[in-house]
Amino acid sequence: MRSWLEEINQTLERKTLSFNARIYALTHHLQIMSKLITILNGPNLNLLGQRQPEVYGTDTLDDVEKQCQIVAKSAAPSVALSVEQKQTNHEGEMIDFIHLCRTTSAAIIINPAAWSHTSVAILDALNTFDGLVIEVHISNIHAREAFRHHSYVSARADGVIAGCGVQGYSLAVQRIATLLS
Ligand code: DQA
Repeated sequence: MRSWLEEINQTLERKTLSFNARIYALTHHLQIMSKLITILNGPNLNLLGQRQPEVYGTDTLDDVEKQCQIVAKSAAPSVALSVEQKQTNHEGEMIDFIHLCRTTSAAIIINPAAWSHTSVAILDALNTFDGLVIEVHISNIHAREAFRHHSYVSARADGVIAGCGVQGYSLAVQRIATLLS
């Protein structure tokens, strides 16, 4: 499969295209082929790396973003995937982040943290989003307290990853790359 860069080069190499047509073709290619993955993290995950390291490990959210960016670059040669990450401790702000994704993002990776088990509002917000949704939990929520076994978000998720540590985020990027390629 040709990479997106090769496709753009081939378009631009067509000698018959005027300068304006080249710019149009380039913009068109970039719009079609560049896709944003937004990683959303819920409450207390700003403390990842410090918070209960025996459960959640010692990597930070910055480490997670770097790992996901590396995976995104190599995982889908035919699509230019970019990754951004956000975190909030405020449920309304998380809902605003999800609404923004409706116009900016092809896919959401969400670790709703404690809101997984409580928030119909976050499920409703995700139901307004047309792209892919992968739910990630660093710990295996099914092997923990009973109140963590149910997630409202799972009803909307195209995939759920739990118990793979922070590697779960990279696995989610790989899955999205597969589905978008
Ligand atoms: C978590 C699991 C949730 O039960 C918990 O409230 C979290 C993190 C996880 O990543 O394992 O904050 O979503």
